[in-house]
Amino acid sequence: MTEPSPIKSLKALRAAEEECTRCPLYKHATQVVSGEGPARAGLMLVGEQPGDQEDKQGRPFVGPAGGILAKALVDAGIERKAVFVTNAVKHFKFEPRGKRRLHKRPNAYEIDRCHWWLDFERKLVRPDIVVALGATAIRSVSGRPLPINKIRGRVLPISDGGQMVATIHPSYILRIDDEADKQTQYRQFVADLKICAKILTKAA
Ligand code: URA
Repeated sequence: MTEPSPIKSLKALRAAEEECTRCPLYKHATQVVSGEGPARAGLMLVGEQPGDQEDKQGRPFVGPAGGILAKALVDAGIERKAVFVTNAVKHFKFEPRGKRRLHKRPNAYEIDRCHWWLDFERKLVRPDIVVALGATAIRSVSGRPLPINKIRGRVLPISDGGQMVATIHPSYILRIDDEADKQTQYRQFVADLKICAKILTKAA
């Protein structure tokens, strides 16, 4: 990514995202959920898409998955305030079920259309490491569907000259019923984040 970005600030990017009609998801979501964090950050975390709470509040990772993420960042020694947090897809995709809105996974078309915004975020924030949280983020950040169990925790080069570390999505941990499995996955998630913390310390 060497050409200068026509969008010069996160504020301008947010304004542009608010007008987004690049795929149909804007039609039913409450609002766009833009990335959040410092204008220049060593670490960028990319989730899948806003959930119900994020859609209502207009901020990424403020619901239950965000709770796990916040705890894991503390346990990995990473300050959330120093991290840029965003999603591969910026509008909530759901299926109405009575009064509830059930999360629906974004499809390849929606991920690819929304990649446009992630690219701008990466050009502006220039992170040393991008953490892809789960399959949707891996597809968006790397540009292809890669098997998470094969690449998890490894530092991989990405097309803009940066580096990606892939790990699970924190909502996966929430869905595990068995307490021992949950703990194991949580510890592994923290270990993946610690790999990033170590690289950042070296880069500083
Ligand atoms: N899950 C995500 O992938 N992103 C959010 O912002 C919240 C939940």
